[in-house]
Amino acid sequence: MSPFERRFLFLLSSPRRLGNSEQLAYCAAHPLPPGTAQKWMHLLDFPLPDFADLRHNGPYHAPIGNAQLLLEATLQATDLVLVAPLYWYSLPAPAKLYLDHWSAWLRTPDLNFRPRMQGKTLWSITVSSGARPEAQPLEDMLKLTAQHLQMHWGGLLYGTGSRPNDIQGDAQALNRAKYFFSAAEAPLVAAETSA
Ligand SMILES: Cc1cc2nc3c(=O)[nH]c(=O)nc-3n(C[C@H](O)[C@H](O)[C@H](O)COP(=O)(O)O)c2cc1C
Repeated sequence: MSPFERRFLFLLSSPRRLGNSEQLAYCAAHPLPPGTAQKWMHLLDFPLPDFADLRHNGPYHAPIGNAQLLLEATLQATDLVLVAPLYWYSLPAPAKLYLDHWSAWLRTPDLNFRPRMQGKTLWSITVSSGARPEAQPLEDMLKLTAQHLQMHWGGLLYGTGSRPNDIQGDAQALNRAKYFFSAAEAPLVAAETSA
């Protein structure tokens, strides 16, 4: 496998399946060049144990079970895409718990998590029922997380919807999804140009 080949890990984290964020992620992944490695994992299928803060009273042991599977998938990826509905201006609990586990993985002997995360790209695909500024805390915390791990920040693809499938009515989000993973600028759609 070429070291320059991109490998996407899509981590779905909505507590409901086939919801708006998941649908928007499929739209963003669709234009990826044929053959681009993609792995999709729904955090509902890989429930993690409660996070235990052992930073100051004992070593962390190598992760087992779902934590091990998520760790391996994370380390395999060059591009890590957190697909998350906006919950209280931030991440839903499964996504937040996954990131809390990074704190353990950073301190697990012999894992070398930090240097192995360095240089990967972190992305987010997020849908909320409110307005884009409400997603700012989520975007800020992910950017800072990427910075902390010396990862690149790819960006946040944002869409609007409340009930499942509402995202199909957000033409701007669907348009931006087509270009999200490419360097190209999304052409403006009618509603965006009329402002
Ligand atoms: C517990 C909970 C918290 C939410 N918090 C927000 C919020 O802070 N801002 C917002 O605009 N929408 C909020 N929403 C609405 C969801 O973001 C919205 O319904 C989204 O489409 C769900 O995406 P999904 O279908 O991928 O799960 C919340 C929904 C739930 C259930």
